[in-house]
Amino acid sequence: MKQLRLKAIAKFIKKEDCVADIGCDHAYLAIYLKENNLCQFVLASDIHEKALENARQNILHKKLDIPTILSDGVQNIRQEKLNTLVISGMGTSTILHIVKEVNRNFIQKIIVQSNNDLSLLRKNMPKFGYYLEDELVVYEKGHYYVIGNYTRQKRKRKRSQIEFGLFKKENKAYYHFLQEQMQSILKKLESKNVLKKLKLYYKIFLLQKYL
Ligand SMILES: C[S@@+](CC[C@H](N)C(=O)[O-])C[C@H]1O[C@@H](n2cnc3c(N)ncnc32)[C@H](O)[C@@H]1O
Repeated sequence: MKQLRLKAIAKFIKKEDCVADIGCDHAYLAIYLKENNLCQFVLASDIHEKALENARQNILHKKLDIPTILSDGVQNIRQEKLNTLVISGMGTSTILHIVKEVNRNFIQKIIVQSNNDLSLLRKNMPKFGYYLEDELVVYEKGHYYVIGNYTRQKRKRKRSQIEFGLFKKENKAYYHFLQEQMQSILKKLESKNVLKKLKLYYKIFLLQKYL
């Protein structure tokens, strides 16, 4: 598998994990995990029959044993068999709609890659019992992807971390991603609305600590 984004997601998966890839599409991640023996068990699931058919074809082609399940989020999935979910390549509202139904007694870890509204995601995951333990950013084909590793803990992150995440110096793509965010905030400052301006200044204040 070539995709840096999916490989970065796989870094958060441990050998003992029993994983469901929710919204698997072509099942590239599940196939990568299974082929490289990176987890104990993996299943691939999607809400769309057509996506699942692509997944089945790819799994069959590789002669791998990966169950596939048609499901909106975790609705048709037996969570007691699992401890880890991957939910990637969707928007924050869909991700939160899925996480709402997750059984916290079984699912200890959720690896999330949202395509938008990261601060809303970071703010809401603790409401469902999941704490942002680690995060990394990868840059691929002109896009930054932020991957969060949420674990079952009753803890909360600071305001600046909810807004801008968990920056680490060694993650160069993260630094560039934050720089880009700063540029976009500075552009928005041209707005004449005073309240909006104040909110933007506050974001700059938080972001400056990282850059
Ligand atoms: C852009 S693809 C991402 C595929 C893969 N997870 C990745 O990160 O490359 C999004 C997939 O999520 C599926 N999806 C969207 N909403 C879903 C839901 N509520 N439950 C399960 N799958 C969903 C779509 O059918 C689609 O195959």
